[in-house]
Amino acid sequence: MGKNSLTVTDNRTGNTIELEITDGAIRAAELRQLKVNDDDFGLMSYDPAFSNTASTRSRITYIDGDKGILRYRGIPIEQLAEKSSYLETAYLLLNGELPNKDEFAKWSHEITHHTFLHENMKRLMESFRYDAHPMGMFVSTVAALSTFYPEAKNVTCPENRLLQIYRLVAKVPTIAAFTYRHSIGLPYHFPDNDLSYTGNFLAMMFRMAEADYVPNPVLAKALDVLFILHADHEQNCSANAMRSIGSSLVDPYSALAGAAAALYGPLHGGANEAVLKMLNEIGDKKNIPEFITRVKAGEVRLMGFGHRVYKNYDPRATIIKQTAEAVFEVTGKNPLLDIAIELERIALEDEYFVQRKLYPNVDFYSGIIYQAMGLPTAMFPVLFAIPRTIGWLSQWVELLEDPEQRIARPRQLYLGADERDYVPVEQR
Ligand code: CMC
Repeated sequence: MGKNSLTVTDNRTGNTIELEITDGAIRAAELRQLKVNDDDFGLMSYDPAFSNTASTRSRITYIDGDKGILRYRGIPIEQLAEKSSYLETAYLLLNGELPNKDEFAKWSHEITHHTFLHENMKRLMESFRYDAHPMGMFVSTVAALSTFYPEAKNVTCPENRLLQIYRLVAKVPTIAAFTYRHSIGLPYHFPDNDLSYTGNFLAMMFRMAEADYVPNPVLAKALDVLFILHADHEQNCSANAMRSIGSSLVDPYSALAGAAAALYGPLHGGANEAVLKMLNEIGDKKNIPEFITRVKAGEVRLMGFGHRVYKNYDPRATIIKQTAEAVFEVTGKNPLLDIAIELERIALEDEYFVQRKLYPNVDFYSGIIYQAMGLPTAMFPVLFAIPRTIGWLSQWVELLEDPEQRIARPRQLYLGADERDYVPVEQR
């Protein structure tokens, strides 16, 4: 192998520089050495949507999009989905290693004992309109938590950070369940600390008058698997938002509210809601060919298909398909499943999708499972935000501990008007 460097010749000046290649990348800032004259700012790289720019060195999540590989801290997602639990996986993501028995006991205890919300927080949530979107309520409530924990501003103290992490991981299911109860006009149920993370969430969502609500173990397990699959996904839109906002050293509640807002969009965490809307619109298997024609004409997108990174079957989609079978044994089959399976079959054989390497992503089947479990579509992005909270927080801690990171500040290529004089309104 030759030298680990890149030689660049600037044809405007004939100057040549040699850039070191480390971990498969050059440092973009070194391009600034290339100038046409002394006043020149220096050469920049242009990369809208960061499609070929690494913003960090990370040790959390590894994705090989071409091969369909996803690993948290090196462990394949398939093994975690089969053998781990969401809380254990959350510990792994944050700390880099699986916990031993004592570490896990402490971690679970701390998460379980921070699940309650301040009564004022409840009142704040009650003030939302009856038809407020749960994700809008979730984003606002998480942001409001920063006003309850002003000490969270001290982001440079690891112990203080850990306390906020316990609080956030513990409270997001409670907030999420309250958004749902609010939207259907039922009283909020406080957490039951004897239940598992997902069992407690199901109880806060669905408990009615029962003294002892027992969550269905198959559904609680399925939700746990779905939470593992959604826990992190390296530098995606919302993780990037978390890091970008966090780089200003704001408290984690404010940063996490921003990350959740990014997740709300239909191209990110809103996609599973969009998948169900799409499947409902298609309505019948016989309408699929006409729908595919509209997709190919660019009129609509096949939601739940395609991914910026995966150019192969999203490994999470494979696991979700298996989880769906377990859920449907309890709930009965969701009739939309047949349409989804047929849609997938046709799309995977179609030249348009094959050529563009468009495969089902995590959202293609997750919505169908959530719906079968009785979870309304408006809750889907919230169901994504609960497990992703630990991913955002792990990315945030890594950012804060990285000596190379500074406040995020991209450059621009200014193409607007040159200097010109202000024109008074009478002369315009
Ligand atoms: N349906 C139809 N065509 C598509 C789709 C789709 N779902 N996705 C991409 N394409 C086409 C696109 O039109 C373009 O075609 P052409 O080259 O002829 O212009 C080509 O494929 C490349 O698309 P792109 O928009 O440049 O790809 P991207 O990497 O910017 O977008 C994406 C990735 C996920 C936003 C996109 O695939 C999409 O909109 N998918 C539907 C929404 C969705 O399912 N999102 C969930 C993503 S997974 C959950 C998560 O991690 O948040």
